[in-house]
Amino acid sequence: MAQIIEKVSRTFGEYLLIPGLTTKECTPQNVSLKTPLVKYKKGEEPKISLNIPFVSAIMQSVSDDGLAIALARNGGLSFIFGSQSIESQAEMVRRVKRFKAGFVPSDSNVRPDATLADVEAIIEATGHTTMGVTHDGTPNGKLLGMLTSRDYRISHDGRDSLVKDFMTPFEKLTVGKLGITLSEANQLIWDHKLNALPIIDDNQNLVYFVFRKDYDSHRENPNELLDPQTKELLVGAGINSRDYKERVPALVEAGVDVVCIDSSDGFSEWQKETISWIKDEYNGKVLVGAGNVVDKEGFDYLVAAGADFIKVGIGGGSICITREQKGIGRGQATAILDVAAARDEHFEKTGEYVPICSDGGLVHDYHMSLALAMGADFLMMGRYFARFDESPTKKLLINGNYVKEYWGEGSSRARNWQRYDMGGKGGGMKFEEGVDSYVPYAGKMKDNLDVTLGKIISTMCSCGSVTIPQFQQSAKITLVSSTSIVEGGAHDVILKDKQ
Ligand code: IMP
Repeated sequence: MAQIIEKVSRTFGEYLLIPGLTTKECTPQNVSLKTPLVKYKKGEEPKISLNIPFVSAIMQSVSDDGLAIALARNGGLSFIFGSQSIESQAEMVRRVKRFKAGFVPSDSNVRPDATLADVEAIIEATGHTTMGVTHDGTPNGKLLGMLTSRDYRISHDGRDSLVKDFMTPFEKLTVGKLGITLSEANQLIWDHKLNALPIIDDNQNLVYFVFRKDYDSHRENPNELLDPQTKELLVGAGINSRDYKERVPALVEAGVDVVCIDSSDGFSEWQKETISWIKDEYNGKVLVGAGNVVDKEGFDYLVAAGADFIKVGIGGGSICITREQKGIGRGQATAILDVAAARDEHFEKTGEYVPICSDGGLVHDYHMSLALAMGADFLMMGRYFARFDESPTKKLLINGNYVKEYWGEGSSRARNWQRYDMGGKGGGMKFEEGVDSYVPYAGKMKDNLDVTLGKIISTMCSCGSVTIPQFQQSAKITLVSSTSIVEGGAHDVILKDKQ
């Protein structure tokens, strides 16, 4: 007969935090959200720590290079989706690694013999009026001049006029040499009262622009997640247990900082084999997360296999129908509590701390605080990030509201059968485990993160904690009845319409 686990499996919405003593030290400025991403030995530092406890889901509709850059600039990390060709995933990783804060490849370029009509078309396409004039009109051609909207008036000068008659020629430009630091570039911008500074290589080829308007935004990103040596942004990538022998080398070559085996059910010999191969091949140097699991047994198995962090969660994702389709899963709060206890036990016994990630099902910001308090070291989210400008999907107007598209990796749209693969010969999708949907559009990532992180920090202060480990050790959590949940929202009042 099957073993019946008597403990009810529960989710975050069934709990609340009870405030602890808020000491004078517990102010938002004193709170650190730094958290380990990968395992480390007692007394040592992990190879990678996140500056905010968020990573983005390994999904087509969430984690491309654009979102990865935005999230790393805000202190978190993306895992670029693996349900694409090895070449295009490696290219996305490369684009994140090549990104230099403040140094922007020029997306609007013309040849000197182009007309103002051509210029108009480029502005229409890119929305940018500052252009590099290069010998061949490419972003990295020989720089011959620069054109800005202050150089011409189309109504007055005529559409047939040539760029070379209006541009500021190279001889009159102030330029920076490749290798210049951002603060040196900004100094030149201030000294010469420029709006944009072209950066050229030794052969006078255009490489980047540095814009005056970006100056403030760089100062606003103190949390940026950078490699301390190279100053490149950090980025992760999803892999599967089928083509890892080809995929991992390509990702490593592209500069990936950490990979994660992406599977809806990670308690498998396939994952063990994948981790072993990666660890042997790279002498333990390539960091690899594994999952997903929902109990101690799964956690212990993947830790013994050598995983650097473990992802927790089956069936809780907003687009997920795995529980309905296969009848497997566990309430996410119970899964986290169980696995966190296993992690702590492992740490006690061996002195090795293996971080855990709560993946999927986080709806309200306070769920994130609960997940951290219950023991998650960091959180993986799909729906949350899919709503932002930076996610790769289309923004649409539906019934008067802006939405963005969001689809599961197990939907027939993504066709990521490797994530749901049960091994054996062949492969392919036999049934769907995810849906294709819309999420409400929410604007810029940074604005939303400011609010969400502000709430988490405020909750931590209420609970008397200034670090995540402190929060985990001292949090008091209570189960709530369904009537108290109703009491938690606005009730027994007539709400005014928002203006
Ligand atoms: P969300 O943050 O609640 O939207 O959940 C995102 C998580 O759902 C991902 O990180 C995956 O673990 C999981 N997931 C992604 N696609 C699917 C799917 O199609 N079916 C089931 N789970 C999925």
